Amino acid sequence: MKVLGISGSMRENGNTAQLINVILDGVKEAGIETEYITLADKEIRPCTGCEVCKERKWCVAEDDDWAAIMEKVLDCEVLILGSPTYYYDINGHLKNFIDRTYSLYHDRKLAGRKGVAVTVCADRGCERALETIEGFLNTHEFSYLGYVCGKGYAPGDIRKDGRAMQKARNIADSIVRFLQPED
Ligand SMILES: Cc1cc2nc3c(=O)[nH]c(=O)nc-3n(C[C@H](O)[C@H](O)[C@H](O)COP(=O)(O)O)c2cc1C
Repeated sequence: MKVLGISGSMRENGNTAQLINVILDGVKEAGIETEYITLADKEIRPCTGCEVCKERKWCVAEDDDWAAIMEKVLDCEVLILGSPTYYYDINGHLKNFIDRTYSLYHDRKLAGRKGVAVTVCADRGCERALETIEGFLNTHEFSYLGYVCGKGYAPGDIRKDGRAMQKARNIADSIVRFLQPED
């Protein structure tokens, strides 16, 4: 699949999910294949720091949902990664997901893909959450197609953030321009 959106929020239809899906809908309108994954119903165990992945080049914790999602990340051209802001940073569930990608770092298996960062906060802290996602994208040598930081508290509030909605549509246009440069 071309464009994969992943929300780390435990709210299945929360603000992060909705903002990512505004981007995906814009991309879909151009006829480009997309997929959306929520981590809300997924089991993602933390990295144990065992370092066995340095030899095996894959995370050895095999009995949860991480590997199936990572296969999809490996298969995509553009990854949209989003998180709610928890204590001025990304939420723990997404951090666990990211930490386990250390197993792919040794051979730079994710390098060359394009990345978009999405964060939502009620009031403050979005920027640091954004930096954490950017740290993931930079470390894995993604190139950056842009970001959206939105404001919202209760699920659906993000729809009232007109600036974030517009930015999400602009990011969709950037992704389409990248994937269909001749149009
Ligand atoms: C544990 C927890 C920590 C939070 N920390 C912050 C914060 O540091 N700054 C902020 O502005 N909002 C904070 N919020 C509010 C969420 O970022 C906000 O509700 C956001 O819209 C949630 O996104 P979601 O609907 O995608 O889960 C926090 C919420 C929770 C549950």
